Amino acid sequence: MTKTSKELQALLAKMTINEKVGQLVQVTPSFFEEVEGTGIVTGLMGDYQIRGEDIYEVGSVLGSYDKAEIASIQQAYLKKNRLGIPLLFMADVIHGMKTIFPIPLALAASFNPEVAEAMASWSAIECQEAGIHLTFSPMVDLTKDPRWGRVMEGNGEDSYLDAQMARAFVRGYQGEKGELATNYAKIGSCVKHFIGYGLVEAGREYNHVSVSKLDLYQNHLPAFQAAIDEGTTLVMTAFNTIDGLPAVGNKPLIDALLRQEMGFKGPVIADWGAINQLMTHGVAEDQAAAAKLAITSGCDIDMMTNSYYDNLATLVDSQQVAIEAIDQAVLRVLQLKADLGLFEDPYRGSQTAQGQTLGTTIQTAARQIGHEAMVLLKNEQQVLPLKPTQRLALIGPKATSQDVLGAWCGYGEQKDAISFAEALTAQYEEVTVVPVNAVHELTEIELIQAKQAARDCDVVILALGEEGEETGEAASKTDICLPAAQRKLIQEIQAVNPTIVTVLFNGRPLDLTDVAERSTAILEAWFLGTQAGNSIVDILSGTVNPSGKLPMTFPMTVGQVPIYYNHMNTGNPLTPERQQEKYSSKYLDAPNTPRYPFGYGLSYSEFILTSEITITKEEPVRVDITCQLKNNGAYAGAEVIQVYLRDRVGQVTRPVKELKRFEKVFLEAGEQTTVQFELTAEDFTYYNASLEKVRDTGWYDLFIGTDSSAEKIMDFYL
Ligand code: GLC
Repeated sequence: MTKTSKELQALLAKMTINEKVGQLVQVTPSFFEEVEGTGIVTGLMGDYQIRGEDIYEVGSVLGSYDKAEIASIQQAYLKKNRLGIPLLFMADVIHGMKTIFPIPLALAASFNPEVAEAMASWSAIECQEAGIHLTFSPMVDLTKDPRWGRVMEGNGEDSYLDAQMARAFVRGYQGEKGELATNYAKIGSCVKHFIGYGLVEAGREYNHVSVSKLDLYQNHLPAFQAAIDEGTTLVMTAFNTIDGLPAVGNKPLIDALLRQEMGFKGPVIADWGAINQLMTHGVAEDQAAAAKLAITSGCDIDMMTNSYYDNLATLVDSQQVAIEAIDQAVLRVLQLKADLGLFEDPYRGSQTAQGQTLGTTIQTAARQIGHEAMVLLKNEQQVLPLKPTQRLALIGPKATSQDVLGAWCGYGEQKDAISFAEALTAQYEEVTVVPVNAVHELTEIELIQAKQAARDCDVVILALGEEGEETGEAASKTDICLPAAQRKLIQEIQAVNPTIVTVLFNGRPLDLTDVAERSTAILEAWFLGTQAGNSIVDILSGTVNPSGKLPMTFPMTVGQVPIYYNHMNTGNPLTPERQQEKYSSKYLDAPNTPRYPFGYGLSYSEFILTSEITITKEEPVRVDITCQLKNNGAYAGAEVIQVYLRDRVGQVTRPVKELKRFEKVFLEAGEQTTVQFELTAEDFTYYNASLEKVRDTGWYDLFIGTDSSAEKIMDFYL
């Protein structure tokens, strides 16, 4: 039986002010003399000291993934903590703990929330075996800017897809509400970064954010609300400011919006060093002022600064901070520990749980999840799937590389990853492999070998892309093209053998100039994790039919960014009739259209989609959509039916189309099925300029198809 709130109140009453403040402090494992290492450091360590035995009063540790290390810290801590309050271990398990799954952006490309839920569930099992209690995931920062390195960590540009994936992540990590306390194969989750981090100006990491409340409410809140409704246990604040106040010191954001309006009851944690950054941002004179602003704004846990540790007790003594603020924060932390069952078992079963981490069951799951994450962008001459007897040349910097895990890969190790070459040579007889040593270089010898191999084969497979560390946090780029060395390679190869299948390993939408035109086929393989090579070859060989769809627009050029499907019409749209009109919203040197739009992805099969619509006009209004989907091809496969809506006239401008429903449907060759969608009044609501939820009576356009360029199938008055 977990501790009741009454028992937690009684525990609080016994705590000294220092013990209370300690529960609000989070540090890396390096602060404990019991361990050698520092865990995985994901921020500036700074000159931060916890004095002597005070370390056995801190509330939580982040960044420890090692079973023995976690157990030894907990064991020492429990011996020293006066009231026997257990230590809480948190970590960045973003797309896998030891077995690494596809990056979250690739999981979103599956357009299948069940895939995200499965990934989270398997990750939780590996976390339990290590002794990790809670993960700093899901990251749901909506973003339309591929220059920002952290796009790999989110769910892309659309708030509906973001919300569906957020819900699935939380469900996978935590199970049903209340399950955490007894099912130790589930872990706590932390939805982040509240809020607007994906809007950093110019895609530059940690840069300023300027966003309207209307945009926040309409587009950025839904995923956080979905995670909160699903029971997420923690919310992490973003580094950026909202309306001039850094999120961690923003009372209107944390208290009024997150807690009162959105109903979040759990603890709020600062991002790494964010409380100290209140001084750097220029809204706190010194650390005491920073601590005061953060705690009174509603931030409960101080991640890796000594602001709370060095100042809160004094602030309470001098009555600058009410003890009630401290007590409420401590109670939320104690409640989280109780909800995790930590008072009953501080090890949450990790001492006996073993044998699944990196095991074949989880590897099989990772391989299958990888199948659904890949997006077939081009396939001319039906060059894919490959034929078993074809002579292949696998060339490029990602051919033999095990740098396929992507950023935020937890405790995963590249040595465990299946490379592209390892998988391809295991399935095909005649493969010549020509590795290129570096992502940004091509030596003369490598080029000569590559051209020779290209000359002597039927199909060239180019393995191109980014280094894993060129994505993730602190990895913004101004140039999202593939490196010049890779563009030179494809140009030279094309001159020798024009049958080129390009496989991309990247963590962001790319500008594929020079690559797309020169490729016969393009497979977007992202960073797929430990089973990358096997998942990719399963698709190239036709064992599995690709079914992914782009969760983010791929621009023609970075100059178009931000470019996204659900844009506003503007007062001077570039319509087909106005192509020559000087005074219309366009560029002199580039089109408005992307290279590949949101929701786009090909299959080896051809799917035929038809739909019938029934409109119910009297209240409660609803739109019933019945789709017939037929797999007209020779391969079993899945298609993603997407339903988009446009509200022609609103109280504020409304996007030219918005995703309202999607469903991924698997069909055998020749099979057909019926898929039903229902739109209710809620689907027609939006926020007006006063941030009220409203719904218009008026004309609507309905689009149904298999990507965001879906044609309008009807309009109706509702
Ligand atoms: C980092 C990231 C955050 C992560 C935290 C702990 O700076 O912004 O997403 O969870 O620190 O590693």
